[in-house]
Amino acid sequence: MSIWYGWNACYFCRMSVNKEVRRITTNTVQEMKLRGEKISMLTSYDYSMARLVDAAGIDVILVGDSASNVMAGHETTLPITLDQMIYHAQGVVRAAKRCLVVVDLPFGSYQGNSKEALNSAIRIMKESGAHAVKMEGGSEIRESIQRILTAGIPVMGHLGLTPQSIYKFGTYQVRAKEEQEAERLLSDAKVLDECGCFALVLEKIPATLAAQVTSSIDIPTIGIGAGSDVDGQVLVVNDMLGYTEDFSPRFLRRYMNAGEQIHNAVSRYVSDVKSGEFPNEKEKY
Ligand code: KIV
Repeated sequence: MSIWYGWNACYFCRMSVNKEVRRITTNTVQEMKLRGEKISMLTSYDYSMARLVDAAGIDVILVGDSASNVMAGHETTLPITLDQMIYHAQGVVRAAKRCLVVVDLPFGSYQGNSKEALNSAIRIMKESGAHAVKMEGGSEIRESIQRILTAGIPVMGHLGLTPQSIYKFGTYQVRAKEEQEAERLLSDAKVLDECGCFALVLEKIPATLAAQVTSSIDIPTIGIGAGSDVDGQVLVVNDMLGYTEDFSPRFLRRYMNAGEQIHNAVSRYVSDVKSGEFPNEKEKY
């Protein structure tokens, strides 16, 4: 027996025939590169934010391990666990009706060996319902990427500033400014393309290098602090909405000042409660 979902949809086939919501897939973002349409990506970590972000027309939501910083208050992305990433991803997936949902494999869940990497990716896909995973690194994680892809799980790569390696880099400064590191990054990008990754995040690298990578590989590049000659852009949603006031890198454009607005709203609420002005007659039963 099938459950009726309206004139265009039944329980078993509602995604393919629902005319109102066409799901963005990994193929869609690859087609966007081909036709020169820029890809928009933002992070989200919970149901309420993801619902707003999805409804506003974003193409890809990244459940980033930046949740470790902006949701849990850690200094780095290293402490967040696979269970915690799955918890964040579950809320986002419940909210996302149209966009593609990609989830970061957290530090320590894939670096050990390719079997561990596959198990972690399977847990994310099975327990959250997400559509793809993202992994930081180049040729050194090639075997793990291939094993995950063989299981039918799409992988997004991530090169340049890879925050899971912050203690190796020692700083959050721009990466690959020197020729040797730039050559290595270009060669890693080609490896990820050849392996079958469906897209590649380029974080905090010179714009000229990002442009060179973008024109040298077939898969879409999505930049954060990588200039405009890439196939798409990503920002951390809390940063671009202005929740975080103490973080102002050059690449960050703030689209609102949520920190200030929330502060003002909470102050007004406190004062209304203290003065007895809230609740009023209409707000009572
Ligand atoms: O975790 C994250 O938010 C990210 C983006 C900055 C690309 O990896």
